[in-house]
Amino acid sequence: MPTETVTTPLCENRFLLNTYSVKLKNYFLTTLETQLPSMNLSDFIRSNLEHILQEWEEFASTLGPLEDANKFELRDHAGAVLKTIALDLDTPQLEQQSIDKSKGLGPQAIEDTAAETHAADRVAAGFTSEQVMAEFRALRSSVLRLWARKVEITTARDIQDMIRFNEAIDQAQSESMARYATMLREAQNLFLTILGHDVRTPLGAISMGAQVLLHDQSLPSKALKVGLRIFNSSKRMDEIVRDLLDFSTTHLGDGIPIDPHTVDLREICANVVDEARTYHPDRKITFQASGSLTGAWDGARMAQAFSNLISNAIQHSLPGTEVDVNLSDSPSEVLLEVKNCADVIPPAKLRTFFDPVRRFAIRPASERSVEANANLGLGLYVVKEIVRAHDGTISVASTVADGVTFSVRLPHLTPHRRIDD
Ligand SMILES: Nc1ncnc2c1ncn2[C@@H]1O[C@H](COP(=O)(O)OP(=O)(O)O)[C@@H](O)[C@H]1O
Ligand SMILES: [Mg+2]
Repeated sequence: MPTETVTTPLCENRFLLNTYSVKLKNYFLTTLETQLPSMNLSDFIRSNLEHILQEWEEFASTLGPLEDANKFELRDHAGAVLKTIALDLDTPQLEQQSIDKSKGLGPQAIEDTAAETHAADRVAAGFTSEQVMAEFRALRSSVLRLWARKVEITTARDIQDMIRFNEAIDQAQSESMARYATMLREAQNLFLTILGHDVRTPLGAISMGAQVLLHDQSLPSKALKVGLRIFNSSKRMDEIVRDLLDFSTTHLGDGIPIDPHTVDLREICANVVDEARTYHPDRKITFQASGSLTGAWDGARMAQAFSNLISNAIQHSLPGTEVDVNLSDSPSEVLLEVKNCADVIPPAKLRTFFDPVRRFAIRPASERSVEANANLGLGLYVVKEIVRAHDGTISVASTVADGVTFSVRLPHLTPHRRIDD
């Protein structure tokens, strides 16, 4: 039948076409396979290290921040970082280890890693943190682009290699950035410490001079008043410098060092309140203490904390209002409460009360000038560190009815007691 004579060759043609296309596909696949051999990423990195580094160098030098860096600087630890990564890729890894790594919880090396040494060199060479980040971006990109160009990425093992490579680069990058930030912060803190010590010497001389004036009975009362003002101001400055030194020495390390021995908090607090009354005769400061208030604490540090809280309560409250200081005792802890009248403080501000760096960082640019911040705002940070060193806690509440209340809770015994106590 005519229909059959027409359809048969068509079917045949379709069959032939299919056969040809399969053959063609296989041919191309075989050719591709021979052109792009399979090779795992770690072997690829090791056998193409020079090429990768060259490619990376070229790629990195096109990045804006790296334009002025010389070739030798660009290359230094990248090779070591890559070798470490290749070794890591060869080490069998459980899924949980992979998850840990992706969360930045991977194992920490005892000695400096290549990425950390790299960061230290970059700080010395004057690189910015953006430049160090850009280097890792370039390294990741160079390896993956070259690998994809030379090797056909098809198997599950290849995908796994890529995931692990990315994790390893992320780890190296965060090690580098952490070291970079630590080194800069340490340098800044050292700078502040030196500044603090340098300022203290002339400050001591000013204070001594003022005391000599105050003891000179032959001076007219106007000169004595000036002498008293100089003495009070130098005392305040000394407190600020002390806070600054505490801030700079504790900001990175293990906190404020304390030397606890048996002291009476009632006596310490009463002295601080008396001193505040002397300096602010116009203000009413009430003080109540109950219960057993002796225990193992660092007396000088507790006096510093109480003094910061009480002077804040005076300084930051409405003029002429009362400041209440309360010390009480319970079986587990001693509670100090310092209360003053002040406008309600918004919760967002309360959250950064004890953290001057964060408080400063979230301040609008218009309020960041030195004039807008008469105080550095280190007092509460230092109080928190002193309380923390005693394993205590500090909190603040602000309500219309009660004003602002700071509450310090101290356990009776601190774990860092002196042995001879
Ligand atoms: N008792 C308080 N009542 C109201 N505001 C307070 C009180 N204590 C602290 N503050 C607020 O918290 C800020 C930080 O206090 P602090 O760390 O002691 O720094 P400084 O007193 O040098 O500003 C103060 O500037 C003030 O705005
Ligand atoms: Mg203060």
